[in-house]
Amino acid sequence: MKRRFFAPFVAVLLASMVVAAAQAPTDEQRAAAKPDASDKAQGAALKLSPADMTWWEDAKIGLFVHWGLYAIPGQGEWYMHNADVPADVYARLADQFRPRHFDPDGWARLAKRAGARYMVMTARHHDGFALFNNPSDVDNFDSVHAAAHTDFIAAYVKAARREGLRVGIYYSLVNWRFPAYFHPKEMPENAALFKRQAYEQIEGLMRDYGRIDVLWYDGGWLALKGTDADAAWFWQPEKLNAMVRRYQPKVVINARSGWQGDFASEEGAAPITGPIRPEPWEKTFSLNTKAWGYTKIRKLVPYDTLITLLVNAVVRGGNMLVNVGPDPDGVIPAGQVVLLKRMGDWLKKNGESIYGTRPGPFAPVDGVYGSTQKGRFIYLHVLSWPQDTLSLPAPARKVVRATVLGGADVPIEQTGEAMRLAVPAHDRDPIDTIIRLELGDETRP
Ligand code: GLC
Repeated sequence: MKRRFFAPFVAVLLASMVVAAAQAPTDEQRAAAKPDASDKAQGAALKLSPADMTWWEDAKIGLFVHWGLYAIPGQGEWYMHNADVPADVYARLADQFRPRHFDPDGWARLAKRAGARYMVMTARHHDGFALFNNPSDVDNFDSVHAAAHTDFIAAYVKAARREGLRVGIYYSLVNWRFPAYFHPKEMPENAALFKRQAYEQIEGLMRDYGRIDVLWYDGGWLALKGTDADAAWFWQPEKLNAMVRRYQPKVVINARSGWQGDFASEEGAAPITGPIRPEPWEKTFSLNTKAWGYTKIRKLVPYDTLITLLVNAVVRGGNMLVNVGPDPDGVIPAGQVVLLKRMGDWLKKNGESIYGTRPGPFAPVDGVYGSTQKGRFIYLHVLSWPQDTLSLPAPARKVVRATVLGGADVPIEQTGEAMRLAVPAHDRDPIDTIIRLELGDETRP
């Protein structure tokens, strides 16, 4: 905890003593907040049914947008913390945040062009600056009450809808402006305000912006340590998400509020390995490897890594949420736009093997292949060729035809339990050779 975080809060604390006193949790309340069997039961009841998850599992690709005051210094979204900027000094960025080229329709068109079927935008990151209207008595540090005088979330939601995309909202429970974030137990009054603000803001987001398809929490952890689940005593995520469901019964919620969630996430651009995962999950990473938010110095994920991550997620039952960080004016850096458009081109050609598919039937072999399936087709994604031919277990139904997706026939040998196929080098793709196997009605002998 940094001492100078305290100073600006003394006034806030004094002014809010009366409200806060009523809010301070007693020991009994704290004990009651500990998850018990009934919380667990409530938690399970909050989960969406597989039918309600279908659109999300079909969608496969989302575009994540990290944008906020931190775009101005251009050192990523952790700037306030990393550079040790006191809250009152950081808050002055709100006077300069007047983006000249904020074009949510342009963002949504780009998302669509990239092949994304949903978007997720940061409504509030760890710095506590809300990009939506937040007329709260706790702290109205938001873009409507600051220089921009704009509800960016309202504009984004409309734009994404207009493009036919599903709409997601990211909300970080972290708020570095509250000293209680670092000392939740020692500062019960401030902690109560901190928590009340999050509940009220999430309620506003779920109530005032029409249908929301994804609620993407972040930072359920407290004091920069532990896991999301460790802070469940504080956030009471079952209670929080029961409130969310009252407004948005079908919203797909991630697991980062400390509640198990409707899907799990894996963060960062590290390679994806291992078997097909039985529960819905999402790989998320930033196209700029330096940060999620805008940075002046950037380094991009290479195109082949991007496609490989996408394929390796989908063949293991995952989605991919790929992030961009617009600059302070709202412009998405050109290199990120180029990558997204190339991904869109790849999907125009190969989307049949991605969208609406389910993983399998072949268990993925790390770095070599994986598969997806839909209707009478299996799409085998070959990422590398250790030999000239590939041997696989034969599917339950006989393969009647095999082709390189959109191209040449592939000779295939089926002998009982096994199947062998070969694709000549000139028909292979250096990143992913997709072979479409058409299944007949006949089961194999
Ligand atoms: C981490 C980071 C955060 C980023 C998020 C995205 O939790 O703290 O900056 O927004 O990951 O998944």
